[in-house]
Amino acid sequence: MKRLADSGTPAADSAFADSLVAWQKRHGRHQLPWQQTRDAYRIWLSEIMLQQTQVATVVPYYQRFLQRFPDVAALAAAPVEEVMALWAGLGYYTRARNLHRCAQAVVEQHGGRFPPEVAQLAELPGIGQSTAAAIAAFAYGARAAILDGNVKRVFCRVFGIEGFPGQASVERQLWQRAAALLPAQDIEAYTQGLMDLGATLCTRSRPRCGDCPMQARCVAHATGRTAELPARKPKQVVPQRSTVMLVVQHDGELLLERRPPSGIWGGLWSLPELDRLGGAIAADMDSAVRMALAGFGDVAAIDPMPAFVHAFTHYRLQVTPLKVTLAAREFGAAQAAYGWHDAGALARAGLPAPVRKLLAAL
Ligand code: ADE
Repeated sequence: MKRLADSGTPAADSAFADSLVAWQKRHGRHQLPWQQTRDAYRIWLSEIMLQQTQVATVVPYYQRFLQRFPDVAALAAAPVEEVMALWAGLGYYTRARNLHRCAQAVVEQHGGRFPPEVAQLAELPGIGQSTAAAIAAFAYGARAAILDGNVKRVFCRVFGIEGFPGQASVERQLWQRAAALLPAQDIEAYTQGLMDLGATLCTRSRPRCGDCPMQARCVAHATGRTAELPARKPKQVVPQRSTVMLVVQHDGELLLERRPPSGIWGGLWSLPELDRLGGAIAADMDSAVRMALAGFGDVAAIDPMPAFVHAFTHYRLQVTPLKVTLAAREFGAAQAAYGWHDAGALARAGLPAPVRKLLAAL
């Protein structure tokens, strides 16, 4: 692999493009409906449909769309409901809404012609950097780099690029690589070749390396790592939060808080939590509890209960429950969200599952 020693920018490498273009011309796909035109509208439509959907699914939709909307003006003038109805079944419906908005922007801002510059294309709704480059290359012959999921996989394997491609630093490297590899001519066959290689040979599982024009120069193939490259998305580390829950009892009644409508356990009654009660910074847990409960009564005793962890979808909550016995209770409501409840009321109140479990263990 040729590299500029100090900048980390990949050096130009015409052999890659030469092999790819030669392979595409001989073995690539040439009969896809959007390959028979240089009409930017038709190419744009295909690229949006192909963003998250396979060729075989796209073809009939593509043809129906063109029949109903033969040009960008027709699409822009249609009611959005009709566009959505025609898109139904393709999935990822934001694409359809953006498709319609994009058609209107092209009519209103560009006189009904898709602009030839990648930067201008990429400002239109639903057109990202890679899609803009594909449109510019296929419609206008622009020398622009694409980088979709398939192309990332090809580059990670051929050049042995480590790290998860969704990570910003890896993605930056891949864009540099994509730009450095662009050929001086044949941008259409080159761009289509990258797509064809990723879709037909360099597939996620069971790549057909025996038929690949990059086999001799592929790092993943040479090191037996096609199954490991590109690296998978790292498992998310689930954030941890912690809370001190107070089981405050007096005369057979329990102090509860009605939680605010939004956030976890929104609208449910739950146990008071130390940091939600407010209060000044205290030297130790005992003083903090006494201060937080000042408006509710005099604390006689504080006893720890077994801690536990409750798993939410997005984080784990470490719960430290404390049993608080009051010597005397204030009867006015210290804060509006708090109230005293007897055992019968508890059964009727909607309590979060971990709180119910905790109380059952009392
Ligand atoms: N996927 C994205 N763009 C494509 C194209 N032009 N041809 C085939 N598959 C594609």
